[in-house]
Amino acid sequence: MSKMIVNARINGEDHELYTDPHRTLLEVVRDTIGLTGTKEGCGTGDCGACTVLLDGKPVNSCLVLAPEVDGQEVTTIEGLASEGRLHPVQQAFVSESGLQCGICTPGMVMSAVALLRRNPEPTETEIRYAIAGNLCRCTGYDKIVRAIEAAAGSVH
Ligand code: FES
Ligand code: FES
Repeated sequence: MSKMIVNARINGEDHELYTDPHRTLLEVVRDTIGLTGTKEGCGTGDCGACTVLLDGKPVNSCLVLAPEVDGQEVTTIEGLASEGRLHPVQQAFVSESGLQCGICTPGMVMSAVALLRRNPEPTETEIRYAIAGNLCRCTGYDKIVRAIEAAAGSVH
């Protein structure tokens, strides 16, 4: 299959990507760009570990093909901190002990950021709904929910 050029803005930087059209956004960010903070869990759209923001909306990057991001803005977990400071959601995950393993946490944080940008003061139910696609079998999610509540109002 012939390759194609895809132009995308990833974490504030413009990228011209020469890629096979069947490659996923997950493969592009991890293998082409080298942003390995985004994780592959299932690879089939079921776990949320690969969540990134596509034009501000959370998506499972394992289900998005490279051509679909042409002309769009992608934010990965590496794009949240700025000037050496953690993003408020990242900081809240640390402060509230919401950090779980390195596989599920980046996706949880990205879903939380997307939620708080569109709904700065969500209810607990809204928080649980927003992270319903981010699976972890090791926890009851309570500290994650507390962390998102703690970050509420500080995300713009
Ligand atoms: S790796 Fe994409 S949803 Fe599981
Ligand atoms: S999958 Fe990450 S702590 Fe359970």
